[in-house]
Amino acid sequence: MKERPIGIFDSGVGGLTVAHAIRQLLPAESLVYFGDTAHLPYGDKSADSIIQYSRKIVEFLLDKDAKIILVACNSASASAFEVLKKEFPHTHILDVINPVVDYLATKSYRKIGVIGTKRTISSGTYSEKIGEKISGAELVSLATPLLVPMIEEGFIFDDISNAIIRTYLSNPSLNGIEALILGCTHYPIIKNQISKFFNFNIEIIDSAREVALRLQEILVKNDLIDTGGKVRDSFYVSDFTPWFGKISRMFFGQDIDLVRADIWH
Ligand code: DGL
Repeated sequence: MKERPIGIFDSGVGGLTVAHAIRQLLPAESLVYFGDTAHLPYGDKSADSIIQYSRKIVEFLLDKDAKIILVACNSASASAFEVLKKEFPHTHILDVINPVVDYLATKSYRKIGVIGTKRTISSGTYSEKIGEKISGAELVSLATPLLVPMIEEGFIFDDISNAIIRTYLSNPSLNGIEALILGCTHYPIIKNQISKFFNFNIEIIDSAREVALRLQEILVKNDLIDTGGKVRDSFYVSDFTPWFGKISRMFFGQDIDLVRADIWH
């Protein structure tokens, strides 16, 4: 059981930022990753569609022998996580939202911002969970849909990205925030640029690290830590183009082989 891989899924290759944080913290663990590139972007999809895709992906990862499943995508965590937990009651399933909210509950911020896709923001999941777990904190949510294509096109620390980031983050609703949650797989890539926009004055919360720590905690608690097997990673996508191969390096920090797995037919 311990040597079985950690199953991770996302709408595409952006979730490799989370896989990367797990690799850093838990180098002896094997990973099985699925990026649903055929249905990308989830940020513009309905909750019903995302639930339907996520269900099938969890089945695929369980077929690949995953010992635990991590929903690395914020849009899927916001829309499908609660349903998946109910539908797979005997599987350990984690999302990327609860670990961040639990982390924030250890702080005493009064005004917090969150940015993410249209789906993540319109779901209201962050406000609901923060409302449940943190009393007296105000949450301001802002959809920032241009950031995903901007990052994928490589616009980072340049005039175009500065203008887009400035336009979004100058929204008056964000005035006075003490922390900003990066509620999307892609945003860790521009974390420094966002910090700079706020003059390094507020905490920028990148969920990848919090999620990796939570995963470690659950593996330890359930005696599932891999203690010596060989590391064998597999990275699957539902549609393959050389472009996905190229940008996956940016998210995982090294070249990986993406294998097409057409789980929809
Ligand atoms: N992975 C998605 C998320 O974290 C971003 C890309 C998409 O919209 O599919 O919300």
